[in-house]
Parts: sequence; C-alpha cells; structure tokens
Amino acid sequence: MSKQIKITDTILRDAHQSQAATRMRIEDMLPACQLLDNMGYWSLECWGGATFDSCMRFLNEDPWERLRTLKKAMPKTPLQMLLRGQNLLGYKHYSDDVVEAFCKKSIENGIDVVRIFDALNDPRNVAMAMKCVKEYGGICEAAISYTMSPVHNIDYFVKLASQLVEMGADVICIKDMANLLLPFDAYKLVSKLKENLDVPIHLHTHNTTGTGDMTYLMAIQAGVDIVDCALSPFSNGTSNPTTEALVATLQGTEYDTGMDLNNLNKAAAHFRKVADKLKADGTLNPKVLSVDTNTLLYQVPGGMLSNLISQLKQANAEDKYYEVLAEVPRVRKDFGYPPLVTPSSQIVGSQAVFNVLSGERYKVFTKESKGLLRGEYGRLPGEVNEEVRKKAIGDDQVITCRPADLLKPELDQIREECKDFAKSEEDVLSYALFPQVAKKFFDLRDGRITTSAPSDDIRYLYVQDLSK
Ligand code: CO
Repeated sequence: MSKQIKITDTILRDAHQSQAATRMRIEDMLPACQLLDNMGYWSLECWGGATFDSCMRFLNEDPWERLRTLKKAMPKTPLQMLLRGQNLLGYKHYSDDVVEAFCKKSIENGIDVVRIFDALNDPRNVAMAMKCVKEYGGICEAAISYTMSPVHNIDYFVKLASQLVEMGADVICIKDMANLLLPFDAYKLVSKLKENLDVPIHLHTHNTTGTGDMTYLMAIQAGVDIVDCALSPFSNGTSNPTTEALVATLQGTEYDTGMDLNNLNKAAAHFRKVADKLKADGTLNPKVLSVDTNTLLYQVPGGMLSNLISQLKQANAEDKYYEVLAEVPRVRKDFGYPPLVTPSSQIVGSQAVFNVLSGERYKVFTKESKGLLRGEYGRLPGEVNEEVRKKAIGDDQVITCRPADLLKPELDQIREECKDFAKSEEDVLSYALFPQVAKKFFDLRDGRITTSAPSDDIRYLYVQDLSK
C-alpha cells in the first residue's frame, strides 16, 4: 500500500481566516486557481468557516457566487468546506430543514468535501449534517475537536471516531485548532486510530505554539493519510504549517507527495503579493506570525489568552490576569471539561473572569454559562459539578435530548420573511444564517442602497474566533 501523503491546502480559507481576518477576495484568488488546480492536492479548502459571513459583511461578495466561480476555475480538485454541525456557519443551532437545505445547496454549488465538527464532540450535533452531506453526494469528513483533559484520552477519541465512522463518515479528521496536539501524542493517537478504523485519517493543526511541523512529521510516521498545510505567504503562526516545507521534507522518501516545488513556488509568488497588500492596509498584523508558547504552559488556546487580556483591560483589572488564568481550568472542570473552542472557550473564559472579579466564585452566571450547564449546546464530555449546576439553573430541567430536537422546522417562515428581497434559495439560506448582514448585502447588491463602506470595527473578530 502506498504511503504517499496527500495535502489539503487551506490558502483559500483557514490560512487567511487565521492570519488576515478572512479578508481574501475572489479576485485575490482567481489568478492562482489554475496553478492550484493542477498541483495534485487531495483537496482545496476554500469555503465555510468564517468566509461566508466575511464575504457579505466586509467584502460585498455573494458567498454562493464565490463558490460557483471557484468551482469553475478549479474543476479538477475536490473543493472542501468547514461546517460547524447543527450550527452550520453561524453561532446557534438551526432546525433540521435549514441544515438539509444548506448542505444540499453547498454541494450543488460546488463543494465536494464537507468537514463537519461540533465544539463539544456531541455526535448528535453532527448527525443531521452528516446524513445530508451523504444524501446529496458529498464526501463526509467528520472531525473530532482535539483537546486535553482527564476525560479526553486516546480511548475517548478512538471511541468517538469509531462512532462517527458508524454514522457514515468517509474520512476522520483530527481537528487541532489550538495546536495543542504534541508530536509524540500525535504519533500515539494516529497509530491507534489507524489500528481501529478503515477510513483515511486527516490531520489539521496550526503552528500557534510552534510544534505543528513536528506534529505532522510524527503523524506521518504513524500512518496519517492527509494533512492540512498552507502555502508559505499565509502559513505558520496562527495559521497552518507550510506546504512547500512539508513537500520538500518528504521528497525522495516513501511518503513523497509527488508535488512539484517549482509549481508550488509559482502559486506562492502570487499569494505573496496578496499578503503584501493585506499587510500594507493593516489587515495582516505581523503579530499573528509569531509563536506563542503560553498555550503549552496553560493549555489555553492562544486566541483565548488574548480575549482574556482584552476583557480584563475593559474591566481595568489587568493585574488579575494570572488569577483568571488559574481559574479557567477550575471552571472547565466544573463544566464537565468542554473543549476550549468557540463557543465554549468564550463561555468558560468569561465565567472565570466573573468568578475572579466578583470576589466570589459563581456569584454571577452568564446567560451562556447557564445554557451550557442546561445542556443547550449538547452533552458535556465529563461529569458536571452538580452543586455549581444547581446554583446556575436551580431546579430547571437539564436538556438530555439532541438540542435540535426542540426546534420546529423554520425554513418556510424564513422564506416568507425575506420574500421581497431574496432572489434565490441561496439568498434565503444566507438570510437564515445572518439575517441583518444578508439583508444589508442584498440591498447593496441590488442597488437599493449605495453606501458600500462596511463598518470595519470588528476587523479582528475572526482572529479571535477559536473555531478555525
Ligand atoms: Co484551523
């Protein structure tokens, strides 16, 4: 059996989401598309994640139009997207009919591979999206959100991955968005997954803590099939490890990717110009390129650390930073060890800040903390501290069913609501996910308003979005 390593390049999605606030435009992509399409990638990640919102909110681009254009420009290579399970590309659970319509239209408009994940690793939150992706002919790549805790050991991940395969996953992804997976742990985890599963294993990590390349090399020796890299102009730091470096490393070995460094270099030359442009206008802050080893010490993702600092700054309590940092793992334990990704990272972080600043633990609960403890986001991985839960929600009943089972079909009502300005089923879905943003975008697109300068005040929102 060939040990050739396959590569997914994230240059058109995660790379610029992680380094440049998801601001790469379609015209920045098109000149390199033919080169990318001929490179021999396993897939090109180019849609989903924060790109959908960013297209409409900041770039005055129709995300569906972008997808169709990319498909036309890259007909040979499978196009990949990132989908947050029942949350799709938004921040709440959508009803099953919206999930179905969204998956169907994504595939119809050009997506081949859909990577589906849930922040809590609750399989019920990815089940509907997985079913629909398969039904409409997509490749279903189910992801496990990697984290560390007493409950998140190798057995836990193997069991979860096996369950996802039973549910129909064609590929299993280890999604290490915070670059917490250390090289030797990656070796053990990938070895165990390969031993137990028959589907390809796809590894996704970043270089935030500086260990990404070593993690890939160890995973490759353990038998990983596919890894996520980014072309050099948008690689490293908060982004993914570098494509060219890995291709060169594997050349002439049994893992040789078969990819041509000269061609990669040509594509990189184009994206270097794009990166220079984004540096010049301040979108790409060189800070994202540096390695942040605090994560290795505190096991708190890099983006969460900067969120905590800014929250404390607002409260004029920066001197409490280390107290809050020590409180984060305690809150996480009380809440049943959720992985620290969006939205649980923000929920745990804010609760830790409240616990320290109010002078008494759990004197105040945020609305989101209550929701998490009530089961609104899904099943928490570990045991919840029942005393804390009681304090938060009193005698309220905890939701034990799949949270989306409580949602009635909503697509017809949404269609009715936007019938005067939605021109297609795709428009209806844009509106279903981001009503205000989509409405403003349609008004601009269709000439009902002319002021095109979108507000840029949350430029760095997506840099801090930890679900990358
Ligand atoms: Co990522």
